[in-house]
Amino acid sequence: MTSSQPPQPARPGSEPGRQNLDPHIDRYAARTAGMTASEIRALFAVASRPEVVSLAGGMPNLAALPLDSLSNQMAEVVAQDGLVALQYGSAQGVPVLREQICDVMALEGISAHPDDVVVTVGSQMGLDMVTRLFCDPGDVVIAEGPSYVGALGSFAAYQANVVHVAMDDDGLVPDNLREALSQAEKQGRRVKCLYTIPNFHNPAGVTLSVERRAEIVEICAEHDVLIIEDNPYGLLGFDGQTYPSLRSMAPENVVYLGSFSKTFASGLRVGWVLAPHAVREKMVLAAESATLCPPTLNQLVVSKYLSTHDWKGQIKTFRENYRERRDAMLAALEQHMPAGCTWTRPEGGFYVWVTVPEGVDTKAMLPRAVTARVAYASGTGFYADGFGSRQMRLSYCYPTPERIREGVRRLAGVLESEMELMRTFGSVSTRAVSGPQFPGPDTA
Ligand SMILES: Cc1ncc(COP(=O)(O)O)c(C=O)c1O
Repeated sequence: MTSSQPPQPARPGSEPGRQNLDPHIDRYAARTAGMTASEIRALFAVASRPEVVSLAGGMPNLAALPLDSLSNQMAEVVAQDGLVALQYGSAQGVPVLREQICDVMALEGISAHPDDVVVTVGSQMGLDMVTRLFCDPGDVVIAEGPSYVGALGSFAAYQANVVHVAMDDDGLVPDNLREALSQAEKQGRRVKCLYTIPNFHNPAGVTLSVERRAEIVEICAEHDVLIIEDNPYGLLGFDGQTYPSLRSMAPENVVYLGSFSKTFASGLRVGWVLAPHAVREKMVLAAESATLCPPTLNQLVVSKYLSTHDWKGQIKTFRENYRERRDAMLAALEQHMPAGCTWTRPEGGFYVWVTVPEGVDTKAMLPRAVTARVAYASGTGFYADGFGSRQMRLSYCYPTPERIREGVRRLAGVLESEMELMRTFGSVSTRAVSGPQFPGPDTA
């Protein structure tokens, strides 16, 4: 700066020693204490470089979509229905789309009335609405351990306490659920909801067995606990298999969340809530206060797609695509991973959940993995209580099979060196635990 320029006023908070202090710190609502950005967001800037194989993100592989005909149809929506498409709409969503959503859900055994469907801006908004409607600060939400990062973020934002219940290869274990409920009851804590992802779990990759479904519905009814069934992957079973939804077993005790993000296009941000009839009115009010109405244009685009495209054929194409990638990942894990690592074998969806040997800390190892040009999502982000340091989520949805093979090979190399260091020096990485984090679009 030359001496002729007037001195610039200091920006609030920029005084020496206060560089990183947020001047609004005393203004935030207490509930924001639970809102933390993903600690690995900075790493993702590096991880998204082309030389890094990212097995971290949950981005659907949209390359198989027929973009030309979709763009023609989008243009048609504006040309033919523009004055509706570009206008405010109903808070509950466009009626014709709600009817079509009922047809989609029928594929998983759900018989629903369009009046009970509320269209949302992705199922993430549904999670926010359900938590807002049902959870007071301090209420307990039971969730599988691990669980979806975005759901943990919503529960934290409304100051609900998450109690995790362990899964096995057949999903949530009913006895563990009973145990968690009776513990909470003994402690005088109010359990409001069970949040569950029964099909092709994010991040665990497992599916709740058919036999356990009725039992879980029954346990929740006995304990007066509402079920939040989050099912974005249910139609992505690699053999075209579907499972009876919890909602079909207990329509009055299950709030069901659905989404077109994984079966059509995540960027359109169209999902839905199927509410118990008694809850529907409140759900519409919650939606209205969040967005006034979901985007009409996007809803009409989805509706046109469902009525004019072979959408079931498109889902089959996605499934085949993901199955090829899953196969590539499982074969590469088998070939390269060091002894002592275990992983799940998903029959649908996007994710494999890996457990590494005792002493390896996947979060501390991540910078070293990124240096070796491979990224993954470390396990602690999928728990509300800091558990998961020996776990990581690998996604096979986005990279090509070749990239997946290369990524797993690099990851195995990093793990080998980590284990070698451990053998030489003992544990290489001790670190603090983390709580729930909000996912970036790449980490969801
Ligand atoms: C289990 C689960 N629920 C909800 C969502 C959010 O989906 P949407 O794009 O519909 O908001 C995701 C996204 O990854 C998910 O995996």
